[in-house]
Amino acid sequence: MDHNHLEREEKESFPAKEVQELISSFPRARGLVLFKHLCQYQGFWVGRIGLEGVILAQQHFQAQPTDIILSSSPKSGTTWLKALGFAIVTRNRYDHLNSPLLTKVAHECLPVWIEFSFIQNKSCRSPDLPLLATHTSFSCLPKSVITTPGCKIVYICRDPKDTFISLWHFVNSNIPKGTDPFPLEEAVELFCQGLSFQGPYWDHVLEYWNASLEMPEKVLFLKYEDIKSNPVFHVKRLAEFMGYPFTLEEESRGMVQKVVELCSFEKLSNLEVNKTGKYNMLDKFEIENRSFFRKGAVGDWKNYLTPEMSARFDQISEQKWKASGLSFNVASS
Ligand code: A3P
Repeated sequence: MDHNHLEREEKESFPAKEVQELISSFPRARGLVLFKHLCQYQGFWVGRIGLEGVILAQQHFQAQPTDIILSSSPKSGTTWLKALGFAIVTRNRYDHLNSPLLTKVAHECLPVWIEFSFIQNKSCRSPDLPLLATHTSFSCLPKSVITTPGCKIVYICRDPKDTFISLWHFVNSNIPKGTDPFPLEEAVELFCQGLSFQGPYWDHVLEYWNASLEMPEKVLFLKYEDIKSNPVFHVKRLAEFMGYPFTLEEESRGMVQKVVELCSFEKLSNLEVNKTGKYNMLDKFEIENRSFFRKGAVGDWKNYLTPEMSARFDQISEQKWKASGLSFNVASS
């Protein structure tokens, strides 16, 4: 990897001198991420480039009562949630034949990341959509997200073992030519130590879980596995929470099923745009759209993790989540 090039890019993206100085004082580490430097900020490991955005958003982002914030840790269902949110909100504008989801990757249909918009000096909102996205941990969200009545958060997460395997594949499929892939053992080590993008993963999930219990009208907590096992039920629940409930008439016309099908892994992963297109991240890095669609399966970790690795994940889940009642052993609904 051209580390000098990366360093240069990272430095150029820090216009605010005070924020730059602040960031350089945080602990740094190499982690399981596309760009290897992570900084520890308020308990979470964040990529250097995104961290400036997180801090600027904390300082300047003003939530609106109509905002619906789609939140996730990377590789736990972000693309799916964005597609579902977009399809639900725009279902009276587009149908399954002319939806922008057919020609653009979900990240372009719904382009606003709260934290990244501050780095790019772009608007925090799409003019005709109430949806915004973030990977920021609950405790690092801008305060106005919590204090603004009406502003809602939908969080999606996934079994840590599947999230990890998905992340490991994603990182390896996007590393620059000539760079050695992350060996699985090393990747397990980094992820279990919390050294992944927005890690520790377990803490990211736990914070949103607790928030959803404390503020169920504000935070909807979704599990990837639950949506997989009963998509119609969860899409209806999602639409209702977002304030876009399906009417009985829509239900009788099969509208829920249409949204489910349009956003399904099978449909989206087979579209030309998602097989051959590229997503321009932060106007800096190109990511192949197909790397957002790998298998879309539950339990794929079994094909990769040794019993010892699996036991290590289980032990951390037990230790971090036992008191909270959170688990991924059984689909909850
Ligand atoms: P796998 O790597 O296990 O296949 P994110 O969107 O947060 O980056 O997560 C990517 C993961 O979600 C990948 O998992 C990807 O295949 C899966 N995914 C993407 N779109 C999906 C969809 N429409 N339905 C189900 N899973 C989807």
